[in-house]
Amino acid sequence: VPSRPIGIFDSGIGGLTVFREIARILPHEDLVYLGDTARVPYGTKSAATVRRYALQNLRLLMREEVKMAVIACNTASAFALSILRETFPIPVVGVIEPGCIGALRATRSRRIGIIGTEGTITSRAYERSLRDQSPDVFIATASCPLFVPLAEEGWWEGNIAEEIAHRYLRDLVAQEIDTLILGCTHYPLLKKTIAKIVGPEINLIDSAEETAGAVVTKLDRSALKHDPQKHPRRTFFVTDSPERFRKLGRMILQEELPDVHHVEI
Ligand code: DGL
Repeated sequence: VPSRPIGIFDSGIGGLTVFREIARILPHEDLVYLGDTARVPYGTKSAATVRRYALQNLRLLMREEVKMAVIACNTASAFALSILRETFPIPVVGVIEPGCIGALRATRSRRIGIIGTEGTITSRAYERSLRDQSPDVFIATASCPLFVPLAEEGWWEGNIAEEIAHRYLRDLVAQEIDTLILGCTHYPLLKKTIAKIVGPEINLIDSAEETAGAVVTKLDRSALKHDPQKHPRRTFFVTDSPERFRKLGRMILQEELPDVHHVEI
């Protein structure tokens, strides 16, 4: 049913970077966001745990009668995309495939770097998706665990962010990649710092932007696009306190988030 909302979930606040892009290119759609703030981070948890959380999250969004689901979280996309697609009768979009398509479009040298959480990197989901589309591509990876708290602290630029980025990224740069996938919800917030460290020759692929494009394509294909009449509703659910979410959300979305509710999973 086209008039129903699009559901978006993440382990917490970072998925608002994906929400932001979807809201930007689909201003007429109703959006329901679930941030599992009580159980974040997913990036250090096992595949089985992340799968269980992802199933519970989408079950909750189904109660809101969403017409489509977006897994904004890279770690959950890496571990749970196929099980969610098998379990629920609606289209489910993850962030990994769109990011890979964007990277393959951008690269000239076919040398691609991927950064993400520990879970995302060890799952090798990005590598599989890249190789499915282009078997001969060279891939270098790194997990950057400190980027998540850094982004949540609002330290997106400055000496400390640059020092950490330098430590994480210097080996990747030495491998002469020409494209780097920002494979975690929080990393687009650090994009300026990452760009400064890797230099202007390396294309940065923001999975959030690529995913928003994939959502549009999927809506068109499944004839689920909402006609552009009314004022869209933007609703947020969180599993921990709404206050912290509102504060960080304001920094990411550059606007107030009035409609934030607490839910128990
Ligand atoms: N949302 C997660 C991701 O994109 C990052 C935060 C976490 O570890 O839960 O992988």
